[in-house]
Amino acid sequence: MSHHFINIDSYEKFVKAFHTLSGLDLNFYKENQMKRRINNFMNTHNHKDDYTGFLKTLSQDPKLFDGFFKHLTINVTQFFRDIKLWDIFQDKIIPDLVQKKNNLKLWSAGCSAGQEAYTMAIIMNEYFPNTKYSILGTDIDVNVLKQARLGTYDERDFASTPENILQKYFTLGDRQYQVKDDLKRSMTFQEQNLLTDRFDQGFDFIACRNVVIYFTDDAKDLLYKKFADSLNPGGILFTGSTEHLFGKNHLGLKPVSSFFYQKQ
Ligand SMILES: C[S@@+](CC[C@H](N)C(=O)[O-])C[C@H]1O[C@@H](n2cnc3c(N)ncnc32)[C@H](O)[C@@H]1O
Repeated sequence: MSHHFINIDSYEKFVKAFHTLSGLDLNFYKENQMKRRINNFMNTHNHKDDYTGFLKTLSQDPKLFDGFFKHLTINVTQFFRDIKLWDIFQDKIIPDLVQKKNNLKLWSAGCSAGQEAYTMAIIMNEYFPNTKYSILGTDIDVNVLKQARLGTYDERDFASTPENILQKYFTLGDRQYQVKDDLKRSMTFQEQNLLTDRFDQGFDFIACRNVVIYFTDDAKDLLYKKFADSLNPGGILFTGSTEHLFGKNHLGLKPVSSFFYQKQ
């Protein structure tokens, strides 16, 4: 236990100390939103004290630290989230891609516990059984990745999932649903910070949805440039419903349908 803990009176200093503690640089995230989330967390966990006291507790309590990290990065998701957009993926995006290639490289960036990545795998299995594919799921939060690798989910994760799909690709265990092993075969889950880590290349499809909402404009610019660089020509970037790429023509990403952009 440190008796000489630095006094963190300002947000700026909190950000610096938290970066050292967690590896997450909150300078890439919108200040007002982050402050609100930090204060919310401090209040609900009865940390009426200042940032200094809170940070000290965080550094000594791994469970609280995990909870806080989760709270900051927000990993709410579900299978077939915005199902109409997955219909477009199935009816237009993948059919166009398979015309040119028979081995697709797909990526769910900011995959949370894997629901989005498994949604892609289910659609590939169900409707494109003759197409080879690999799916990468990445996230900054190691705890959600553990769940993704296990493939165990609660009923509420399936609110948008068609019943026949649920029956076919999952087994009901002890009040939880388990992804069948078949589906896991072409999937990899990896820890990655989208803002600072390098990206793999040669993707045909990247989904990055509901991840950048709290990123600063500079961080978003950097990220979309990196995505454009790692897509194959003709490859598709799928963004969240509030994450339009207005004014990003210079990246060579052309809208082909709402929230789907094609690399030229
Ligand atoms: C709301 S979830 C989105 C899950 C899924 N893409 C969806 O749309 O349902 C946001 C995820 O982004 C992750 N995330 C936040 N900042 C990140 C970063 N810098 N690098 C990688 N993942 C990040 C969070 O850990 C969280 O799991």
